[in-house]
Amino acid sequence: MRKIVLTLCVGLLAALPLAGRAQDVREVVPMPPEVQRDMLIAMRDHVIVLDTVFSHMATERYREAAALVEERLRAAPFDPAKEAAFAAYANADMKEADAALRHAAKGLAAAIRKLDAARDYAAAKGVSAATSNVTTTCVSCHARNRLR
Ligand code: HEC
Repeated sequence: MRKIVLTLCVGLLAALPLAGRAQDVREVVPMPPEVQRDMLIAMRDHVIVLDTVFSHMATERYREAAALVEERLRAAPFDPAKEAAFAAYANADMKEADAALRHAAKGLAAAIRKLDAARDYAAAKGVSAATSNVTTTCVSCHARNRLR
């Protein structure tokens, strides 16, 4: 009996990666290699920005944190030509998520400035909520789109 249960468990575990693949419902959004490369560079920069913002927040460098969010937290690359290339290949859903990220980033920058001025619990909660709005846009775009 124990052997049968063990065999079933091992079988289930082995099948898990397949189940994961079968459930990948993300839309493939094809882009030329150089557009992909620039987009992924921008993506990796988002993680650096979030890390730096959290570090600034921890040391109460609010002005620096707000400026960084405004300047660097956006879905498309910064160079206008690269942004145009991204827009040419991104699907409507990605463009919407791109706009949502920019909007959420503005909200986060405003919440950080409010905390800088008020230095109270309500303003700190506002920053937490605004941070969550940002990461939600990351997650929702990732849940629906992939490059390959
Ligand atoms: C407009 C949609 C969209 C938004 C918004 C978005 N991403 Fe992405 N991101 C993607 C896509 C598409 C990929 C490629 C995924 C794939 O092909 O598997 C990606 C890949 C990444 C990668 C992997 C980079 C690499 O070199 O492989 C990181 C890290 C990442 N995103 C971070 C973020 C963070 C952090 C945010 C939010 C601040 C964010 N992304 C917001 C669409 C988005």
